[in-house]
Amino acid sequence: MWSEAEEKEVALAFDLETFDEDFVENPYPTYRAMRRHNPVCRLPDGTYFISRYQDLVTIFRDEERFISDKKVDFRKKFGDSLLFEHHTTSVVFNDPPLHTRMRALMTPFFSTHALSTLRPRVETFVDGLLDRIEEKKPFDLMTDFAQALPLNLVGDMLGVPVEERVRLADWAVLILGALEPALTEENFKKGCAAVEEFKTYLRALIESKRRSTAPRDDFDVLGALVDAETLEGKLSELELLHNCIFLLNAGQDTTTSLIVNGIEALFRFPESLELLRRRPELITTAVDEMLRLESPLQIGNRKCMAESDLHGHRLPEGAFLYIGIACANHDETVFDNAEELDIERYPNKHLAFSKGIHTCAGNALARLEAEVAIGKLLERFPKLTPVSELVRGTRARFRSVVSYPMATQ
Ligand code: HEM
Repeated sequence: MWSEAEEKEVALAFDLETFDEDFVENPYPTYRAMRRHNPVCRLPDGTYFISRYQDLVTIFRDEERFISDKKVDFRKKFGDSLLFEHHTTSVVFNDPPLHTRMRALMTPFFSTHALSTLRPRVETFVDGLLDRIEEKKPFDLMTDFAQALPLNLVGDMLGVPVEERVRLADWAVLILGALEPALTEENFKKGCAAVEEFKTYLRALIESKRRSTAPRDDFDVLGALVDAETLEGKLSELELLHNCIFLLNAGQDTTTSLIVNGIEALFRFPESLELLRRRPELITTAVDEMLRLESPLQIGNRKCMAESDLHGHRLPEGAFLYIGIACANHDETVFDNAEELDIERYPNKHLAFSKGIHTCAGNALARLEAEVAIGKLLERFPKLTPVSELVRGTRARFRSVVSYPMATQ
């Protein structure tokens, strides 16, 4: 625990380009310092980090003043590269009208009806994973379980053959990793190569989808996007390619991280684990609380288009903003006992899926996956125990995990 003076010093020295291992391991003490002492923080490179819950809500709700289009800033970061092409064409980094067009195409696949037909598929898939784990002792929660579910569901959505799916996970990490505030030359090159390989791969997949006369199934997102491509004004080839890549990336690391960090939190708060085992119907509020406590996407971005006042703090026109999603989700003025896992917390107005027009399109799918995965894992293995500590990735934007070894008895 820091003294008041130390906390102030941490908040004033905050820099997203030079964070250390302690910050990656546990960013929450630093985030508390930011909320208390430097809530609209000007970083050394001239960008801003926003940390208080109410400020995030103001930003998310005003999409005309705080835009998502990143062409100007990504030109500086990525130059005229494939990473620039990708990140400026995907739905999440655009404003209306491209955003509205893309979002309208995706929405039907994530409706309540679509997801209710998907639930049995998720359950069967999770049961299969658990059967394999039962034979493998010990097992890694990350690689043997949590990674497989989102990868295969999004693989199904885009019709990627099962044996080719593992490549997608590697590409996703390289492409999204390039969004980290500090980007090395090596990671930049790897990110560009990943976009190139992904595009080549998808072009072939799209070509075979265009030629296919087989009936489209309920969950054939690629088929729907390809059909939309032929309607004038709907989708260009580049929009199609990059939004498929985005869909493949958006739902993977995030959902995997939710499942693994959620289980880790249960072991850190054993009374919650015991309660959830006793009352499995609490899984819905438990998953929301896991999203709040360990938000998979920790930091978002916006650009401020006009000089603004955030509860008494000035933001200049043109400022590039880092949005502290995980930080705001620990805001003690909004959440009681914010540093604790309370699986009965309700209502839980966390911002893990953001708010406003960019609210995560796949949020109900991610919740469904986590509820089924965590629920079934605890039900099947009453003696589930970690055999060593969770190993973290090195990223600040994502709450990523490398491994979490477990035993089932
Ligand atoms: C726990 C898992 C997930 C988390 C924490 C998460 C988080 C987010 C957040 C915070 C945003 C908004 C970013 C912003 O406002 O700038 C977002 C957008 C998006 N997410 Fe997710 N996501 C998750 C899973 C998924 C899944 C499973 C899919 C689909 C397969 C998905 C698809 C999308 C899409 C398409 C957008 C863009 C929405 C738009 O710009 O209108 N996400 N996600």
